[in-house]
Amino acid sequence: MKISVIGCGYLGATHSACMSSLGFQVVGVDTDQSRVNLLSQGELPFYEPGLDTLLASQIKTGRLTFTTDFAAAADADVHFICVGTPQSKDGLAADLTFVKSAITAIAPYLKDGALVVGKSTVPVGTAQALREILSTSAPQADLAWNPEFLREGFAVEDTLTPNRLVVGVVNDRAENILKEVYKPIIDLGTPWIRADLPTSELVKVAANSFLATKISFINAMAEVCEAAGGDVTVLAKAIGYDPRIGSRFLQAGIGFGGGCLPKDIRAFMARAEELGADQALEFLREIDAINLRARQRVIDVVRADLSEDLTQYKIAILGATFKPDSDDVRDSPALDIAAQLEAAGATIVVHDPKGIEPARKRFPHLDFAEKVTDCVKGSDAILHLTEWKEYRELDPSVIGQLVKSKFLIDGRNALDREKWRTAGWRVHALGRTD
Ligand code: UGA
Repeated sequence: MKISVIGCGYLGATHSACMSSLGFQVVGVDTDQSRVNLLSQGELPFYEPGLDTLLASQIKTGRLTFTTDFAAAADADVHFICVGTPQSKDGLAADLTFVKSAITAIAPYLKDGALVVGKSTVPVGTAQALREILSTSAPQADLAWNPEFLREGFAVEDTLTPNRLVVGVVNDRAENILKEVYKPIIDLGTPWIRADLPTSELVKVAANSFLATKISFINAMAEVCEAAGGDVTVLAKAIGYDPRIGSRFLQAGIGFGGGCLPKDIRAFMARAEELGADQALEFLREIDAINLRARQRVIDVVRADLSEDLTQYKIAILGATFKPDSDDVRDSPALDIAAQLEAAGATIVVHDPKGIEPARKRFPHLDFAEKVTDCVKGSDAILHLTEWKEYRELDPSVIGQLVKSKFLIDGRNALDREKWRTAGWRVHALGRTD
């Protein structure tokens, strides 16, 4: 069986390397020539632990190639659509331009019996609409949907050992083809869920909405803890022992960002409105609002502690990416806070182990430091905003000798507060009053 992967960004690059590692002949197709050049040399255009070595090893086997030419995918039996669906510039809905152009571009090359499999996160109803388009432009082919649940930082693991496989199909043939593709993964005992097209699309956005809800729930509890004199980390630990609640995704802090959770809950609300089901998802508006409020709360703490007028203050920002083990700065809460403080007149220096270049592209007016020691030098406050391991390993006594004032705000509740306090630091952690 030969596979094509259309769109070689985060999802597509990971999927193509993983499919090749399962033994398939894979061609990755992308319209970006420079990305194709890099991938063809076995190099990643982004940081993802473990994917760099997998990609390089798969290129060496000769099974995995990348191209900008859609014709190279003509002999593939299965075509995975892995293009992005960002938030529209003019609203909450998802922008489907890339999905539609991928389908249009591949349609003339689909051979008899080819299966197009959507992996991109799309508004419910998209798969059916695309299937109808294909029924006229390429009636010899079929379409299925197979949502992806991989997390950045764990992309290879989540692709090769996912906690479930979900396929949206309208006939047994499509299901059987996908069972053949995923056989090695199914053989590991991975749950297989066959759904109709709309349910498969909904599973993805429902999962991300649930995760966003969990995070905003604990951040709402953090607000209440701050008002009532409680400690949200103890609260999270205590409720997490109930298996019906579970302890994961209850890390209170500055909230969720990235290229998925924020835009997915917004696109879900926009789609529900079109369907006349807007009331059902009204709560997601609050989830979004709590999430954005978490960023504002950090700024409020800085202002309350330093001064309303921040023009005389230097603030060191530890972390630029939306989460650790990634160089992704899309909708990063850390960078949003940094930019807002800079706009308020503070002198800002940002450090990140992997995300400085992408962060600089987005916020060229911010100052960045390659070393933590340069970042914190002479600062009036340190804001810990992305929980990289490197920051947990800092020695508060050493850092204390570099700063102007030993004041730390832990925006991720991930540092050892006692260690910093023992070294003479004032520490404020979100959702903890003591
Ligand atoms: C998310 C989902 O977790 C994946 O299952 C999904 O496949 C992916 O989106 C997608 O739609 O493609 P990802 O964006 O990589 O994955 O990031 P998460 O690990 O979900 O983290 C999202 C954000 O929530 C981060 O900013 C993180 O710092 C924050 N977070 C996470 C918290 O603030 N608290 C927590 O307890 C957990």
